[in-house]
Amino acid sequence: MSMPDTSLPRRLLLGSTAAAAAGGLLTGFGAGSLRSAQATTQIPDSELGYRSFYGQYQSGIIDAQQEHAVFIGWDMRWREGSKKQQLQALLQMISDDAARLMSGRGVLADTEPEMAQPPSELTLTVGLGQILLDVIGQGTVGSMPAFANDELEKQYQQSDLLIQFCSQDPTVLHHAVRAVSKNLRQLTTQRFVQTGFMRPMPGADTFRNLFGQVDGVNNPANEAREQAVFGEGRWIPNGTTLALRRFEMDLDRWDEVDVTGRDFALGRRQSDGSPLSGSSVNDPVDLTAENELGLPSIAANAHVALAKPSHGGETIHRRGYNFDDGQHAGLLFASYQSDPRSSFIPVQHRLAAADALNTWLKPVGSALYAILPGVDEGGYLGQQLFS
Ligand code: HEM
Repeated sequence: MSMPDTSLPRRLLLGSTAAAAAGGLLTGFGAGSLRSAQATTQIPDSELGYRSFYGQYQSGIIDAQQEHAVFIGWDMRWREGSKKQQLQALLQMISDDAARLMSGRGVLADTEPEMAQPPSELTLTVGLGQILLDVIGQGTVGSMPAFANDELEKQYQQSDLLIQFCSQDPTVLHHAVRAVSKNLRQLTTQRFVQTGFMRPMPGADTFRNLFGQVDGVNNPANEAREQAVFGEGRWIPNGTTLALRRFEMDLDRWDEVDVTGRDFALGRRQSDGSPLSGSSVNDPVDLTAENELGLPSIAANAHVALAKPSHGGETIHRRGYNFDDGQHAGLLFASYQSDPRSSFIPVQHRLAAADALNTWLKPVGSALYAILPGVDEGGYLGQQLFS
């Protein structure tokens, strides 16, 4: 890998593990580097929940959702010199950190490499805002448009860089977040840290959101999921996009809504997730079905009626998390889709205009990212964009 010639600190210029370890010693990271170099000799045990950093796609997208997540947005603090080279060096450093952490090793100069074990299905998934694609001079993701009911707060809006960290273990996750954040400090400022949790329902890709609803039922699966996320319209082969929205839920007012009102607003039953047009959870959402009074079983402004893709090209893959930051609780909505302009954005416009659930929702965060392709062994994130 050729290294850019910039005035960045040495740590940021080091791409390969060996070079990174040597560089750490040369620049006086001292004992921490030695410990992390020793830790690299440990072979990760796949039975302990290892997801590969290397592959066609980044992990943490179409693979099974882990129970804990932290989404962190950073803005760049450029130094003198080429922005493009600084970004390249940054992505090399993140790649090195991610490869180590996901295989259960500490990052370079890690003061607690023991906390990386076992990795507990840790994934780091990296995305860039349009502003960084412009720095590189390649790729288009665009920006998130304004939606009708937005009440956005500055700290949850678009950041330059995003990493989605996920793991089954919140302690491993915490360590990974801290290790990477320490390394990014010199070149970035943190815009947001959004922490989420979910618990998959037995034998399903669904979870209860904080309204109590079964969420994730009509997510695409298998090939349909891969097609929705990495298919036609993607901004780069094996890359995709992430729409990240933060919805606060007014749970005190939701408490006052009876079961019929709740089911009506969603179009599905809270009890078992079944659509009002059927009787079990996997029955189709049938918008033509009528009830005994001859009225539509699912109201036209029910969430699922408006969210249902009007054609295959609108399909998105939702991978959201519940949040409770002590002040507010809600849903960290995260969806992956090949082209947000033909899928996420029109669906979100429909929902923002008329969704019955809006009464209890306040969208306070909104951002859109270009998710980089997967990495070949020995390579680094975004390498295709720099050659
Ligand atoms: C806090 C906000 C939201 C909540 C609580 C929520 C909740 C739910 C629930 C419980 C379901 C039914 C089960 C399922 O199929 O997953 C559902 C379906 C769905 N939601 Fe949401 N959702 C929210 C926001 C959004 C947003 C912002 C979008 C996209 C812009 C979206 C898109 C969808 C889609 C595509 C479906 C499946 C519709 C179908 O084909 O049946 N949701 N949502």
